[in-house]
Amino acid sequence: MKLKPRRPKSNQSPLLFFLILSLFSLPNDAKSTTTLIHQFKEAPEFYNSPDCASITDTQDNLNNHQNADTYICSEEVVHVAMTLDTTYIRGSMAAILSVLQHSSCPQNIFFHFVCSSSASLLRAAISNSFPYLNFHLYTFDDSQVSGLISTSIRSALDCPLNYARSYLPNLLPLCVRRVVYLDSDLILVDDIAKLADTPLGDKAVLAAPEYCNANFTAYFTPMFWSNPSLSLTFADRKPCYFNTGVMVIDLERWREGDYTTKIEEWMELQKRMRIYDLGSLPPFLLVFAGNIASVDHRWNQHGLGGDNFRGLCRDLHPGPVSLLHWSGKDWYRFEANINKAMLIQTRRRKG
Ligand SMILES: *[C@@H]1O[C@H](CO)[C@@H](O)[C@H](O)[C@H]1NC(C)=O
Repeated sequence: MKLKPRRPKSNQSPLLFFLILSLFSLPNDAKSTTTLIHQFKEAPEFYNSPDCASITDTQDNLNNHQNADTYICSEEVVHVAMTLDTTYIRGSMAAILSVLQHSSCPQNIFFHFVCSSSASLLRAAISNSFPYLNFHLYTFDDSQVSGLISTSIRSALDCPLNYARSYLPNLLPLCVRRVVYLDSDLILVDDIAKLADTPLGDKAVLAAPEYCNANFTAYFTPMFWSNPSLSLTFADRKPCYFNTGVMVIDLERWREGDYTTKIEEWMELQKRMRIYDLGSLPPFLLVFAGNIASVDHRWNQHGLGGDNFRGLCRDLHPGPVSLLHWSGKDWYRFEANINKAMLIQTRRRKG
């Protein structure tokens, strides 16, 4: 999907938002029932290698509700969370397959999918393509977050499901301690268990790929930086931009610190005064930047699918690569670059 930079027009945007919303949702639900399910090939069954920890008989357990809990709660399981929607299902399918293909212990992986609509359709699509997959589909209540999303930010980034990652600690079972969150626009070429094992140290709530050379100031408005009661939030930290599309989250620490509420509080504030321009990323930066553990950059090879024409491609990460991340769904940095370019142009025009 292509995002066009659009200046917010407060009078028009709710109507425009509604129109865009209906454009996307109407054809999807009508057509997809027939197409989605038959669109993808059935993946083969993937087996653990001999030295994998065995978590009893997977399929039998999952058919039995009580044993399913024992399975999910096993320490050996690698938990992966992704959002699912009909628009990006193609990317999700490829991502899931890539996780399984490159895992040494694919039967020890449990997928936690979060969707906000078309649940039965999406469940059928996943079950048909991955008949042996251990997964659970959670329905995310859009209304939980839609009232918190500031309408001044660009609508394509406003999709409530983009915010679902902040609610994983509430959605997933309490016994799940650690989860790898993945965007839908990436491909793994290495064993996800290694990513899941990223050390979080004594305190970090999450690990993500950090980019300290990115201009952190640009992620927040001058209004934010000029208000000491707000910008002081970064006073004791050295904040860096990080990518929220590949995260290892300690759900227990998150729950203890009630970080979902902290993220919501910044979103509430954003509704009253514009402190940032992007969607779901800045609240994460506000709460966590400078206090996270680092995910090795090999787990976020970005710079794929940038805009050559405008010269907005990111540099590729040198060295070995474990995960390819397209700039397809979120476009955060892409957008940030456009904003920067527009800012420079405006300045040039003024100057
Ligand atoms: C970082 O971004 C801010 C705000 O957009 C800008 O004023 C500043 O000059 C930038 N700094 C660098 C080093 O590019």
